[in-house]
Amino acid sequence: MDKVASVAPDRTALPPCAGIGLKPLHYEAILDPDCPSGRPAWVEVHPQNYYCDGGPLHRWLSAIAEQLPLSFHSVGLSLGSANGLIDDQLEKLAQLCDRYQPAMVSDHLSFSGNAHDRFADLLPLPYTNAMLDHFAAQVDRVQQRLGRRMLIENPSCYLAYAHNDMDETAFLARLVKRTGCGLLLDINNIVVTTGNLGGTAQDYLAAIDPDWVGEIHLAGHATEIHDSGPLYIDDHGSPVGDIAWDLYRDFIAAHGPKPTLIEWDTEVPDYATLMAEADKAQSILVENSHAFA
Ligand SMILES: [Fe+2]
Repeated sequence: MDKVASVAPDRTALPPCAGIGLKPLHYEAILDPDCPSGRPAWVEVHPQNYYCDGGPLHRWLSAIAEQLPLSFHSVGLSLGSANGLIDDQLEKLAQLCDRYQPAMVSDHLSFSGNAHDRFADLLPLPYTNAMLDHFAAQVDRVQQRLGRRMLIENPSCYLAYAHNDMDETAFLARLVKRTGCGLLLDINNIVVTTGNLGGTAQDYLAAIDPDWVGEIHLAGHATEIHDSGPLYIDDHGSPVGDIAWDLYRDFIAAHGPKPTLIEWDTEVPDYATLMAEADKAQSILVENSHAFA
């Protein structure tokens, strides 16, 4: 990884390089030009953590934004809620985008509440024609308000609805076609979903058009063993698993480098450990850069 960014960050596109999720305990290391672990090519930010007007969080983020491209990964729009996305979350996201000009903005193929309650979880959607109409309308609202294309992330699922009209990849394909949005391809989520619900990660990835993919997520997951079989839990609390690495290596070799994030949100490791994971992704990206130059 480069130790020091020598030019102003590109605010219009993420580089096809490895980034890390921005955590307060790593602020100082990221800004330290002499840090032996180096500096990521870009960082992903959960914008909900910065929905305040000022204070130390914004001072840190401003300093980092002067050095590195940002990707805003929202967890709060609740695009699949039956009563529509959460308006105040969209306004706050729009204001933060105006302030920091992130290179990318994304949220999830999920819902997190209804007219009465909000939940911390990213809950699964029924993949029906009615939900496609509704979800596409919400993505349109976000893209219109932000004046830019957004990415939608494939979820990690623990159940599927009996009345689905289509599978997840078909839903994503039609969503991309209808709205012009892109895909945030989370490879660990594919491992978790296919492990829990059936199917294979290879078949899932074969149904993905690489031109949709604006960013990739890699993360670790937990496994619980039950009488009914293993349950895979997307906890982002460990290194990226071997299966996800193999799928990632194959995808990049087939389709070329894409901006890639190491997600590690629980049991967050020290900076050197996180950067070692990012360096592993970066080496795969570099190995395949010449074939797609
Ligand atoms: Fe993810």
